[in-house]
Amino acid sequence: MVMVKTPVKPDQLKPGKKAPDKETLLTPRFYITDFEAAANLSLTEQETELNAMLTEMRNDYNRHHFMRDEEFKTGNWDHLDETTREGFIEYLERSCISEFSGFLLFKELSRKLKGRNPILSEMFQLMARDEARHAGFLNKAMADFNLSLDLGRVTKTRTYTFFPLEWVIYTVYLSEKIGYWRYIIIFHHLEKHPEKQFYPIFKKFENWCQDENRHGDIFTALLRSQPKLWDTWKARLWSRFFLLSVFATHTLTVHERASFYESLGLNATEFDKEVIKKTNETSARTFPSVLDVDHPDFYPGLQRCSQRNLKMKEIGETKAPKFWKTLRKIPLIAGIVVELFRIYLIKPIDAEALRGMVK
Ligand SMILES: [Fe+2]
Ligand SMILES: [Fe+2]
Repeated sequence: MVMVKTPVKPDQLKPGKKAPDKETLLTPRFYITDFEAAANLSLTEQETELNAMLTEMRNDYNRHHFMRDEEFKTGNWDHLDETTREGFIEYLERSCISEFSGFLLFKELSRKLKGRNPILSEMFQLMARDEARHAGFLNKAMADFNLSLDLGRVTKTRTYTFFPLEWVIYTVYLSEKIGYWRYIIIFHHLEKHPEKQFYPIFKKFENWCQDENRHGDIFTALLRSQPKLWDTWKARLWSRFFLLSVFATHTLTVHERASFYESLGLNATEFDKEVIKKTNETSARTFPSVLDVDHPDFYPGLQRCSQRNLKMKEIGETKAPKFWKTLRKIPLIAGIVVELFRIYLIKPIDAEALRGMVK
């Protein structure tokens, strides 16, 4: 189900168009799924919740939010130093690809479900509306730095990965909620440190992240409408597996781009830790089982993975022969795998029991 990827040659690009960064395991991916299974989803268990959310989504609270106001039009960012500028462009690009990937998946789901599952079809169409706005807004921000992504080309040239519907529900839920926390933590930090706000896009994050929060809640309803996604021992194992994959990817990417967070006055490690803690806490309202992120071996383990990842990056940048680089990377990769497995085995938190107590 994986489509062919044609690499973009720089000379094929129009001036001012940026070739997307090379795809790696850590870059945001594009997904397709089992659309037949999606059309046949029975929503009876969560119908009231889903209908309430549909009304919320139709209200379109952020209809006028993604406008490029005066500050964007009159601003000048030539004074930004090279590190800040590069780190910021990379951040914009990664976020844009990730928002756009959500748009494509939701759009396709909405199209395929039309006439077969009307509630879901409309819901996905409204979520695609939001993600298109988000991606477009980020791309316009890149244009302020004389670069932009040719999203039409990206659609055709990216690799699409097939994920079963169950995996899509777990991972999209997590990416919406982690997205929410990332945006809101940056927003609140800059509210306290306005001198670090070097570009007006950050001011938009407060209402923006409410879109992501709503999307996450829609996925909660989807997940809870399918007992096999939360009421079985397998569901518990999958929940923790996806939490750990998302958290590990976050730790690795945030530390690869530590300078960007520093330019905002944030400490990359503290930011990463906070995002993980909050996302895990939020997930306990949806997933049957979550990770014990406060366990003394949890975060240090993730940090060791990140150090190995940085070492691998360093090796990749040397001029040594390819086979030698690969050879040097093998023990580091093995180290990451063993470390993640160890973290996975830390006694989890039973979220269902926790919910029972709250009631
Ligand atoms: Fe979004
Ligand atoms: Fe979203």
